[in-house]
Amino acid sequence: MTLDASLNEELTAMDKAGTRKAFRYLSTPMDTEVTMENIGKVMVLSSNNYLGLANHPQVIEAGREALKTYGAGTASVRFICGTFSIHERIEAALAKLHHTQAALTYVSCWTANTGLMPAIAGAEDVLISDALNHASLIDGCRMSKAKRLVYPHSDLADLEAKLQSVVGARRIFIVTDGVFSMEGDIARLPEIIALAKKYNASVILDDSHGVGVMGNHGRGTAEHFGVEGQVDIITGTLGKALGGAAGGYVAGSKILIEYLQQVSRPQLFSNALPATIAASAMKAIEILQAEPQRVTRLHDITKRMRNGLIKLGFKPLEGESAIVPIIVGETAFAIRMSKELLKEGIFITGFGYPVVPEGAARLRIQMCADLSDAQIDFALKTFEKVGKNLDVI
Ligand SMILES: Cc1ncc(COP(=O)(O)O)c(C=O)c1O
Repeated sequence: MTLDASLNEELTAMDKAGTRKAFRYLSTPMDTEVTMENIGKVMVLSSNNYLGLANHPQVIEAGREALKTYGAGTASVRFICGTFSIHERIEAALAKLHHTQAALTYVSCWTANTGLMPAIAGAEDVLISDALNHASLIDGCRMSKAKRLVYPHSDLADLEAKLQSVVGARRIFIVTDGVFSMEGDIARLPEIIALAKKYNASVILDDSHGVGVMGNHGRGTAEHFGVEGQVDIITGTLGKALGGAAGGYVAGSKILIEYLQQVSRPQLFSNALPATIAASAMKAIEILQAEPQRVTRLHDITKRMRNGLIKLGFKPLEGESAIVPIIVGETAFAIRMSKELLKEGIFITGFGYPVVPEGAARLRIQMCADLSDAQIDFALKTFEKVGKNLDVI
């Protein structure tokens, strides 16, 4: 059998199971409403554009200016061909945002996570990871030569047992998402930090869904819990609340960042974050700091959406983040419900296996600070109609 024929068998099986994902093509910028090819205007409830900055005029203008100032790029990796001043500026801003000494950007948070763990955790070390961590943390752990242990989601008794079992290892890391991307719940960060202190471990926190969302000023999960400055290593994305294009980073001690500059493989062998994106994200950080009311609005409307859904008879997972997942069961059903919602003008993707466990397929609502009250009313009415038609409520 040829490679294509063999791969096509698997695609056909996905078609039969109703689990094959389709790309949707958009002809307008990401916003609370977009124009979708063959569909028309739809309201968006499935973007990580939490603060509504992806199409913000100042964010766009900052990127345009940076293109003029720096051109397309250095056409090489940073240590060979130099690095732009905008990288220095945004790394300082990210460090300040996270109360760390320094930060280092990557082209994505995926790259940051997979560039971090193999660099700092070797054969004598241990990575202890939450079972529901994002795929990039899982892959980052797998790429490391360290001993790898996984604790059941947020089960800190199990985490402590695992910490006890590795006492004496050279370096021990507890690896966790801040906000878990598929559940929308939050890591028990103060207790995790306490355990790390007790067992001489370091905490690696991926706050991709926490930054811009959690805490009164959107500085993330550490702000939410009042533990800023106490997390050893924070990773995050610039591809969600902070502009939405791409880009990621590691924030931590000065020594850690200097070490990553020397040994983290994506730093050594891959080009820097494009200057245009660095400048747009820098502007997004400035807007976040100048306009905390965006974060307040996001918190308020997320509560409204969650309570509205509960009133209609849906059972969204509990949580305080801007992610409101509704579990609907089988993958094919989640995809069907998502298609029905799209017909009614709401764009929200159904997630199933292998992104989430079999039988726990879901629609993941993600809120955006720019959603109007009228849009939220429309969304709830539409959920009611589709939910009743499909016997979900
Ligand atoms: C928790 C978490 N970490 C990392 C990533 C990857 O981010 P990026 O798109 O910057 O690679 C995501 C993206 O979905 C995420 O949800």
